[in-house]
Amino acid sequence: MRVYLDNAATTPLDKEVFDAMAPFMLEHFGNPSSIHSHGREVRSAIEKARRTVAGLLNTSPAEIFFTSGGTEADNAAIRCTCRTHGIKHAISSRLEHHAVLHTMELLEKEEGVQVSYLRHDERGNLDLAHLEELLASKPKTLVSVMHANNELGNLNNIEEIGEICKKYDAIFHSDTVQTMGHYKHDLQQLSTSFIVGSAHKFHGPKGVGFLYCDANVKIQPLIQGGAQERNMRGGTENVYGIIGLAKALEIAYRDMEEHHAYIQSLKDRMIHKLREQMEGVSFNGMSEVSDKSLYTVLNVNLPASDINEMLLFSLDINKISASGGSACSSGANAGSHVLRALNIDPARGSVRFSFSKYNTSEEVDYVAETLAKMYKKQLA
Ligand SMILES: Cc1ncc(COP(=O)(O)O)c(C=O)c1O
Repeated sequence: MRVYLDNAATTPLDKEVFDAMAPFMLEHFGNPSSIHSHGREVRSAIEKARRTVAGLLNTSPAEIFFTSGGTEADNAAIRCTCRTHGIKHAISSRLEHHAVLHTMELLEKEEGVQVSYLRHDERGNLDLAHLEELLASKPKTLVSVMHANNELGNLNNIEEIGEICKKYDAIFHSDTVQTMGHYKHDLQQLSTSFIVGSAHKFHGPKGVGFLYCDANVKIQPLIQGGAQERNMRGGTENVYGIIGLAKALEIAYRDMEEHHAYIQSLKDRMIHKLREQMEGVSFNGMSEVSDKSLYTVLNVNLPASDINEMLLFSLDINKISASGGSACSSGANAGSHVLRALNIDPARGSVRFSFSKYNTSEEVDYVAETLAKMYKKQLA
C-alpha cells in the first residue's frame, strides 16, 4: 500500500474529468481563435466552461478569466491592480503562499509599493484591528489575504475582511486556491474584487486556473500578445485544461456536502489516533479546530527527535507521501516560512497531512501507527 496524503500539493485527476477532457485532446483540436468551424466548436466549449464556473460562483461569465493556474492568477491580480490603479500601498500577511509574498516583494523592490504585514498570534490568527488601523491611516490600498493557509489549514474570515476593505475603499484580493472546490464561494455575498482557483487542487488537471475579477475593478493584462480572454490574457487557451477545470468544479460543488463530511471524518480520525498513540503530539496553527481550519489539512507538531531531520524521507520509505517543512531551514527540509513566522520550536518536527475523497480510514490508521512507531523507536 502506498498512501498519498499530500492533497494540498495536488490531487489525483477524477476519471469523470478526464473523460470530459479527452475529446478536446483528440477530436476537437481547433484553435478557439480560428473563425472556421473547427475553431468555433472549441470556442463555444470554452464559453460554456466559463458559464459553468461563473454559475457555480454566482457571478457573471464576463468576470472569469482562465489562467495557467493559481500563481498566475495571484500575480495578475496583485501586480496589475497596483500598476493599473497606481497603488503604492499594499497589506498582506507573512503567512501567505509565495505566489503572493514574492509578488509583494517584487512590487516593493521594483515599483516602490510599500507593503505592510498584518500582525498575527502564535497560532496564525490575523489581527483584524491592525488591518483597520492600517487602512485608516493609508491612501488607496490593495489588501491580499488568503482564504485558507495551505500549510496550516487556517481559515481566514474573508467575509469580515471584505467588509473592512469596503469600509475603507480598499481593493481586496483573496488567494482562494486551497478553498476553491472545497467550500462554496458566493460572489454576490463576498466583498472581494479578486478570487482565484487552480484546477489541480480539486481533482482537475494541472496548469490551469482562473481569476475572478470584479467588473468594477478594471485591470490591464499581465500577459501581452493576443486578444484571448477578452484581451485580458494573451496566448492560445489551454482548451482541455479549461474543460477539465469546469468539470472538476461542477463535480466538487455537486458532491461537496458528502465529501466535506467524509474528509472531515478522516481528519478527526487522524487527530484521535495520533493523540492516542503518541505522547507529546500537538497541532500547528488552528489545524485541529474544525470550524477554523480547512477540513482537508492537518499540520502535526511532533516531539523533538533526531528523526525530524529526515521526517518526510522516512515517511516516504514507509510508503507515505506527505509534505510540510520544519521551522528550521537546514537538513532534508527546505524549511517553512509559515512555521518560522509562528515561532514553532525548530527542534520539534512538523508534517502536513492533506486528505481527499480518495483516502480511506485504513490509510489514516496505517499512517498514524507508522508515525507512532517511528517516534517510539527513536525515543526509546
Ligand atoms: C494558497 C496557494 N496559492 C497559490 C498556489 C499556486 O497554485 P498553482 O499551483 O496553480 O500555481 C498554491 C499551490 O500550492 C496554494 O496552495
